[in-house]
Amino acid sequence: MAAKETIISDLPAMPLVAQRVLAVAADPNSSVNDLKRAAESDQAIVAKVLRIANSSLYGLSRRVHSLDRAIVAVGFGTVKRLAVAMSMHGTYDVMGDQENCLWQHAVGGSIASFFLANRLKTEEPEAAFTAGLLHDMGKAILINRDGEAYSRVTDLISTGVQQSEAELSVFDVTHSLIGARALKQWSFPESVTEAVRLHHAPGRWAPEGDGPPVLAVALGDMFCHIIGIGCKRDLAVKDPSFQKALRLSGMGTSDVLEMLSRTKDVYERERGTFGA
Ligand SMILES: [Fe+2]
Ligand SMILES: [Fe+2]
Repeated sequence: MAAKETIISDLPAMPLVAQRVLAVAADPNSSVNDLKRAAESDQAIVAKVLRIANSSLYGLSRRVHSLDRAIVAVGFGTVKRLAVAMSMHGTYDVMGDQENCLWQHAVGGSIASFFLANRLKTEEPEAAFTAGLLHDMGKAILINRDGEAYSRVTDLISTGVQQSEAELSVFDVTHSLIGARALKQWSFPESVTEAVRLHHAPGRWAPEGDGPPVLAVALGDMFCHIIGIGCKRDLAVKDPSFQKALRLSGMGTSDVLEMLSRTKDVYERERGTFGA
């Protein structure tokens, strides 16, 4: 068994383009040209950002064909967020997401978390989108480190053991913590790292004004499991934190059903846009 500190000290490096894009996104003084310089070294990222900006998520009346036009149409902040998100797609591949199911779950999570943060009004939709996309990055890291050991985790979960307990017994660390530590090391903002760290323990977060989008990401994750967006072997839907998050959100059954159907519709319509 790898010790927790060994796994943490041996976290993978973030892809170079993602590092550059993230640095620009995190700098409040960065300019449109800074972002263009960082993103344009990978045309695939630019193309993906434009596809999402033109998707039904934003409902633009006219298509945009350049980063400049996208920035005018959906805002600099949104384009920065989309560029960061799409630059992370490659990270999932590098981490051994051979079935693409972690990425599919990530995309579903980002869409659901974004809608939920808008619905809850107390949480930041932009951070929710990014945290929703990256909430299970820790799983990709653990699978990449030792896929066989992670199979033992899923075997334990299928016998009824809680996911965090199963991960602790095999890896000495949970995917929530390792994902949050990696994202912190890669300089993601605290609103994102905290939402990732607490996505299976939303009850531990005590909201005080504007905080990280913990509820949106915890619920967005569970919505995806209910709809069936993600890896089949992943049975986290039994997670007791779901009921807790639901109570804290104050949403009723009709709200939940509406959010589920909206997430499913938009995911099915837009998954190709995200390469999922
Ligand atoms: Fe998770
Ligand atoms: Fe998840």
